[in-house]
Amino acid sequence: MKILGISGSVRSGSYNTGLLRTAAGMFPADLDFEIWERLKEVPPYDEDDDTDTPPAAVAAFREALADADGVFFATPEYNSSIPGQLKNAIDWASRPLATNPLRNKPVAVVGASTGAFGAVWSQADLRKVLAATGARVVEGEVAVGHAPTRFGEDGLLADEDLLGQLQEVVDGLVEAVDARTMGPGAPAVRAA
Ligand SMILES: Cc1cc2nc3c(=O)[nH]c(=O)nc-3n(C[C@H](O)[C@H](O)[C@H](O)COP(=O)(O)O)c2cc1C
Repeated sequence: MKILGISGSVRSGSYNTGLLRTAAGMFPADLDFEIWERLKEVPPYDEDDDTDTPPAAVAAFREALADADGVFFATPEYNSSIPGQLKNAIDWASRPLATNPLRNKPVAVVGASTGAFGAVWSQADLRKVLAATGARVVEGEVAVGHAPTRFGEDGLLADEDLLGQLQEVVDGLVEAVDARTMGPGAPAVRAA
């Protein structure tokens, strides 16, 4: 099983990338979790360029999504919504709509911000946009507010309550991927 992690922030010290790095240690050991690091290379969406030979970073993004069994998003909030670079990449991934690599794919959304509310509006908008692409958005939310106070010096999430919530979202995504890849008769709990 393969899960792709996508941070909506491209800055080096990103708390959202820190959330992904924390989640990486929570997935079952036999699962492959990879953080996609090329978001900054994705150009602005242009329908004229959305041809059989799209820009290289777009082709790579679509391929990485197609290769993944599930996607784990961690997003900041910019002016009460999704950072433009993340929305832009999802717009590229969403075309053509009927065959886009997010269609029917289990996805989870968490978020961190330096404000009090932990990117809740951005997460809500991202869930709405992902649902529009046909992705299966799993339930569960982690809203890391006042982010500078919630991470340790190693850059990983350090708050016990939030760690518990993050584990629940990780488990929910794994369950959704299991159910999709193994079919309706799949056991509710994975073998150890
Ligand atoms: C352009 C911009 C807009 C922002 N708007 C919000 C906002 O609406 N709500 C909020 O809680 N934080 C807002 N912030 C602060 C971000 O939450 C903060 O920069 C956060 O650390 C970004 O996530 P990152 O650490 O993953 O890069 C904004 C930051 C920027 C740069």
